[in-house]
Amino acid sequence: MRVFVLTGAGVSAESGLGTFRDAGGVWSMFDLKEVATPEGFARDPAKVHAFYNMRRRVHRDARPNAAHAALSRLERDLPARHPGGALTLVTQNVDELHELAGHRDVIHMHGEALKVRCAACGHVARFTGELSDAVACGGCAQAGGLRPDVVWFGETPMHLARIQEALEQSDLFVAIGTSGTVYPAAGYVAQARRRSIPTLEINLEPSNNARVFDRGIYGPATETVPAWVETLLA
Ligand code: OAD
Repeated sequence: MRVFVLTGAGVSAESGLGTFRDAGGVWSMFDLKEVATPEGFARDPAKVHAFYNMRRRVHRDARPNAAHAALSRLERDLPARHPGGALTLVTQNVDELHELAGHRDVIHMHGEALKVRCAACGHVARFTGELSDAVACGGCAQAGGLRPDVVWFGETPMHLARIQEALEQSDLFVAIGTSGTVYPAAGYVAQARRRSIPTLEINLEPSNNARVFDRGIYGPATETVPAWVETLLA
């Protein structure tokens, strides 16, 4: 059984990372056009750096929760439990909580907040400090070209070919903690439906996409995800 899991901000909510669109979410406090678009960065790089410096501090201090741990257990134990079993984990999250929970292969379609990328040479490096125009790239030594290695609105998500291939080979599609608002991720459930594989939503409450799924499990991810993993591995 090949399981495709898509995660969103809801899986990290109980680790203290805010979601984007819930009450008090990140996009109710910040204008995404100013801090999460290439145009916003071109207009005011200092404002965008300040936003991601703040986000980086929050991400750096966060710890994985029981939902991340259960998914990492699923990655480890699925092959032994189901012959040919494998998990593909695609996350929209830019935190590293899946990895900190021991997950080995995490596909970050929206990039990673604790990495920077150089516009001049393309060098990508881990970076947990305070970014500004004065910081030099570790690859080409030029200052002023570094940006967070995340996908902004209007940019193409990462690893799309690999994600498509995994989607086309999967036997079960599961979305966890995502509102189903941002494409292409929000469209993956419809693709899974067209292939007639079972689709499951695990979320705090029914998402915008809930009626497209065959089944939903609702409640906090730290309770619902471990229980679902337990059932799958039973
Ligand atoms: P959203 O903030 O849009 O949705 C989070 C979902 O998690 C909501 O449906 C909540 O009901 C649910 N949720 C909240 N707390 C939960 C909990 N404890 N357990 C389970 N579910 C919970 O976040 P995403 O769907 O991840 O993109 O947002 C998608 C993309 O939009 C993000 O990757 C980011 C954002 O703008 C970029 O920055 C490109």
